[in-house]
Amino acid sequence: MRILVLHGPNLGLLGKREPGVYGTCTLSEIDRRIREKAAQLGVCVEDAVQSNSESELMEKIHAAAGAVDGILFNPAAYTHTSVALRDALLGVAVPFVEVHLSNVSAREPFRRTSYFSDIAVGVVAGFGPESYLLGLEGLVAHLRDVRDERA
Ligand code: DQA
Repeated sequence: MRILVLHGPNLGLLGKREPGVYGTCTLSEIDRRIREKAAQLGVCVEDAVQSNSESELMEKIHAAAGAVDGILFNPAAYTHTSVALRDALLGVAVPFVEVHLSNVSAREPFRRTSYFSDIAVGVVAGFGPESYLLGLEGLVAHLRDVRDERA
């Protein structure tokens, strides 16, 4: 089972970015923990990409069609703005889980709007780096259920 991890804008700053909100864990440490969890679950992280560019994230989503089984996605600020990334995910129909480090529902009102939650397999928010690990577990369980139903 192949998983693509996508991190949206400003997540490359983790570790020094608003530590009171996002903690002190760096993105490379988060990626290391995701790969460790993936190994425990017996799945493969094909790639883990952070981009500040909506178009680059879109290209990665387009390339995911047929190349991976699922996407673990923190769209970051694009969560609240990007019809283009939503359409890309609908276009390729690759199952994905939306993750956030912070509890977006408990922050500014504009963060309560997500262009992804209603088309995601599920959403995990508010657990810091653990959100990614919980999201990965949920995604893999979902993909296995779907595979078993088809068998
Ligand atoms: C975030 C929440 C978003 O609202 C914010 O723009 C981010 C990070 C999170 O992981 O908590 O950049 O996605």
